[in-house]
Amino acid sequence: MSYPITRLRRLRKTATIRSMVRETEVNRDDLIMPYFVCPGKNVSNPIKSMPGNFQLSIDLLVNEVKDLFETTGVDKILLFGIPESKDETGHVACHYDAIVPKAIRALKEIVPQVMIVADVCNCEYTTHGHCGTIINGDVDNDSTLHTLAAQSVTLAKAGADIIAPSDMMDGRVGAIRKALDENGYENTPIMAYSAKYASGFYGPFRDAAESAPKFGDRSTYQMDPANSDEALREVEQDIIEGADMVMVKPALSYLDIINRVKTTFNMPVVAYNVSGEFSMVKAAAANGWVDGERLIKEILTSIKRAGADVIITYHAKEFVLSEMKKG
Ligand code: PBG
Ligand code: ZN
Repeated sequence: MSYPITRLRRLRKTATIRSMVRETEVNRDDLIMPYFVCPGKNVSNPIKSMPGNFQLSIDLLVNEVKDLFETTGVDKILLFGIPESKDETGHVACHYDAIVPKAIRALKEIVPQVMIVADVCNCEYTTHGHCGTIINGDVDNDSTLHTLAAQSVTLAKAGADIIAPSDMMDGRVGAIRKALDENGYENTPIMAYSAKYASGFYGPFRDAAESAPKFGDRSTYQMDPANSDEALREVEQDIIEGADMVMVKPALSYLDIINRVKTTFNMPVVAYNVSGEFSMVKAAAANGWVDGERLIKEILTSIKRAGADVIITYHAKEFVLSEMKKG
């Protein structure tokens, strides 16, 4: 008799047997690719802290999304806007001709197959860079709900397929749901950034979206990275208010949260593999310290293994291209 009886290595012997028992696979259809749209024509500003990502004017964005769809088949994008001018409340984002609604209309004309998720927040549109209206030195919850609801309706009118509020105000999912319903968009889903943490991993994004707060930080509205029970309360609240999908953000340092949310609520869970997570991989790979392609696959697989159904990631295009190359 040979010992041990149980030899887990038996199922690792060949690539064929490993692929047969593999539990988690990241598919093209799980991925959403984010883009930053800016004013002008023929503008392509490289985002220094996010190699391979650009602020694109609408004409170039349309070309890029068309290329994404045609070369990889990725048919889901998330849009952020860099406006021409900002104001105190972010109301600039609520106009028919604001940058993101304009981009959505252009995209829908040329690549209607691509599903557009519209991020809803004020920080890209306020002069102070906070996610809402400032009263007495802090973001005022209830007045911010008005700009969020108005922005959401504008985006839905422009043709956004999904509305994704990322502000972390209390009650915003309910306020947005009500506004969408009143305007005839009762079938537009809400993807709520439910458990969104006050994170250092957003650093590169704030360069990209020019949305860094001019004073203080976001810790009076985004979550404390030390908390996990609170994440479940945030998610529960958003579900009660009508969220169709809930999100955990960032992803990598919060895999435990993704897992708790998935096992507790059995809802579609979205994870945001954020800018800082992306840029760390890129920087290390550029130095030759890690194999970037291998890390990307491992990272996306771990996020899905933790319980995410959908992953928002700046790696989406290159990941799918490299999987296609492998055949
Ligand atoms: C805006 C918003 C942020 C991100 C998505 N929406 C930044 C922030 O809260 O400061 C971060 C995305 C990323 O880092 O990739 N509310
Ligand atoms: Zn914001």
